[in-house]
Amino acid sequence: MNQAELQNALSDLPLGDIRYYESITSTNDYAADWINQAPPDLSLVVADEQTRGRGRSGRRWFTPPNSALAFSLVIYPTNEYRRSKLTLYTGLGALAVTQTLERNFNLKPKIKWPNDVLLEGKKVCGILVESHWQGDQLLALILGIGINIAPSSVPQETLTYSATSVEDILGKSTDRINFLKGVLENIVDWRKRINSLEFITAWEQRLAFRGQSMRITLEGQASMQAEIMGLDSLGKLKLQLISGEEIIVQAGEIQIQPLVDSSSI
Ligand code: BTN
Repeated sequence: MNQAELQNALSDLPLGDIRYYESITSTNDYAADWINQAPPDLSLVVADEQTRGRGRSGRRWFTPPNSALAFSLVIYPTNEYRRSKLTLYTGLGALAVTQTLERNFNLKPKIKWPNDVLLEGKKVCGILVESHWQGDQLLALILGIGINIAPSSVPQETLTYSATSVEDILGKSTDRINFLKGVLENIVDWRKRINSLEFITAWEQRLAFRGQSMRITLEGQASMQAEIMGLDSLGKLKLQLISGEEIIVQAGEIQIQPLVDSSSI
């Protein structure tokens, strides 16, 4: 991968500026600095290696060289999406990656709400959307996506979840630029309809554990048993508690785990 190859492969897409780095701390951090120079909408930064890749809740995101896709898009959202933008744009990234896996490789990925893409129940992609404000005015969103392509992109250390890579599942090598192009095409396409029922439905159809009772832990709260019902019109998660009460979960830290021993919940 290099700047010329990227530029060439992505030339048909309505992107802003494109920047490629062999090694960078984090594409989200780079994009955050870039915003000060007001790059065009859908400007893209791609890194072969990230030395301080970031995940949600301050976790590290592993991106060794020659193995993964790590990129961030600068997005200037319009005012109509003011509410729940982080959740909707996380869904946009997840749906775009999921559809690329379906269309390019005939795989059956699932979206673990809000920001993980799973293959065979294991995490293959994570999404980190960050908002940048000037006072109370939203300047831009940064949509950061990390995808494990080669087996070497899967961290060896013990994780709190199981992870895999696209190539582990396919059993053959994958062209990273082609994959990136597919994801970006889907982002451009779905973004036009991000406020539509069609978008929410496409996302909801791919929701992992839908209709299943799971152990849910919301940030700072005790875990509870609840059935995953689906999404509301803003992409928030609808849960039904054992009492029958329905609750809506806002974007934030949520853990969804199988009911290993429901008697202990
Ligand atoms: C998560 O699952 O916790 C989110 C992981 C997001 C990783 C991507 S890789 C590209 C971009 N740059 C970062 O530092 N993080 C995101």
